[in-house]
Parts: sequence; structure tokens; C-alpha cells
Amino acid sequence: MSGLLKFPVISIDGPTASGKGTVAHRVAKQLGFHYLDSGALYRLTALSALRNGVALSDEQAIAALGRVLPCRFDKGHVYLAGDDVTDEVRQEEIGVAASKIAVLPLVRKALVELQVSFRQAPGLVADGRDMGTVIFPDALQKVFLTASVEARANRRYKQLIEKGFPANMEDLVKDLEERDARDMARTAAPLKPAPGAFILDTSHLTANEAVHQILSLYAQALRNQSAI
Ligand code: C5P
Repeated sequence: MSGLLKFPVISIDGPTASGKGTVAHRVAKQLGFHYLDSGALYRLTALSALRNGVALSDEQAIAALGRVLPCRFDKGHVYLAGDDVTDEVRQEEIGVAASKIAVLPLVRKALVELQVSFRQAPGLVADGRDMGTVIFPDALQKVFLTASVEARANRRYKQLIEKGFPANMEDLVKDLEERDARDMARTAAPLKPAPGAFILDTSHLTANEAVHQILSLYAQALRNQSAI
């Protein structure tokens, strides 16, 4: 299929806990688009490695697990090999493990096909770190969502407490800073705004305000496309 005929993608990239998940999910819902939570795929691959006793540095073995990741997303639930792991994959230690395996080029490569398969009619909102730079470089609208470390740590703290998980503000700030540094410094698909991405700082925005801005940007991108 030619690039022009492919279903439209809105890529939403950004650092940990920038609000991407909530915002991307709501944008997808408003447009009736599919939603790809690419971070969940890295988290599931990390969880699969931990469950199989594979060291988080064993690139070949983790890539092999990623290539045949037995995952399923259904009505807000995430399954790994049939087990409902919705809450488990959101735990902070799984996020840290995911960011460790995400530096491994073969692991990233192993997950490409699965990510691209989410691009289906009528369109896709893709949330991650390299959606606009690597996986969907032809996304119609690219967004880089960011927020201060304090705002992000605060949001993560509230999420964890709401889910009944233990959380400590100081540890969260440290984790976020370490994870950002790892995501930005890696050679394979480092976290950075894609060329042409709209940079949206959500430190002082509600999720709905961010959603509204992205929908306006997308509407404008569609108008620009049909004017060509
Ligand atoms: O977004 P989330 O926190 O669920 O992602 C978990 C980890 O997976 C991130 O810290 C990041 O290192 C990695 N990741 C990535 N590329 C993506 C999505 C997530 O490297 N597209």
C-alpha cells in the first residue's frame, strides 16, 4: 500500500509520566481510532523475561521473547500468555525493567512488526518514545508531550496510590530522572521530538486541555493535507 493510502497516524511521544497514556487514549476515543500503548509492549517483554528467568541484559533471548510476545489487549485489560497482567505491568519495577531492555537494539527491532500491525482503519493514535521518529515516520500529526519532572512525579504518585501500590515521592523523582536519562542517551531510537513534532508542555494543562489541542492540530493537519 502506498504511504499516502495508509491509515492516518497521530504519534504522541514523550518522557515517562508526561500524561501521554491518558491523553492518547482520549484522543483515540474521540476520533474512533485504534490505540497503541507501545510502552506496554516493552513492559510485557520485560515481564516475560522476568517470568522466564532471562537476564535483562541477554539481548538475544529477550528479542526472541519479544518476537513471539503472547499478548492481548481487550477492553482496557492486558494479557500475557492468557494471564490478566493489567496491574502488574504498570508497577514501577516493571517500568524500570522495560526501560533497561528498551536500550537493546535487537529487542526494539523484534517489536517493530507488532507495533506497525496496530495501524488499522480508520486510524491510529500511537503512544511511546519513538512513534514519530522510527515506527511511524509518516504520521500525519506528530506530538511531543512533555512536563516538568515535578509535575510528572506528582501524577505518577497519584496513579500508584489510587491503584493501592506503595509510592514515595523522592524515589519517584529519582526513577523518572534515571529513566529519562536512559531513554535519551541510548543509541537505538533515543527519546527526542520527531522533526516537525508539535511540542506540548502539559505541566499546567489538564488532560482534556491537551486532548483538545491535539484534536485541533489534527484537524488542521487534515485540512493542510486536503489542500495539497
Ligand atoms: O511508556 P512506559 O512508561 O509504559 O514505557 C516503559 C518503558 O519502555 C519506557 O521507560 C521506555 O524506556 C520504553 N519505551 C521505549 N519506546 C517506546 C515505548 C516505551 O523505549 N516506544
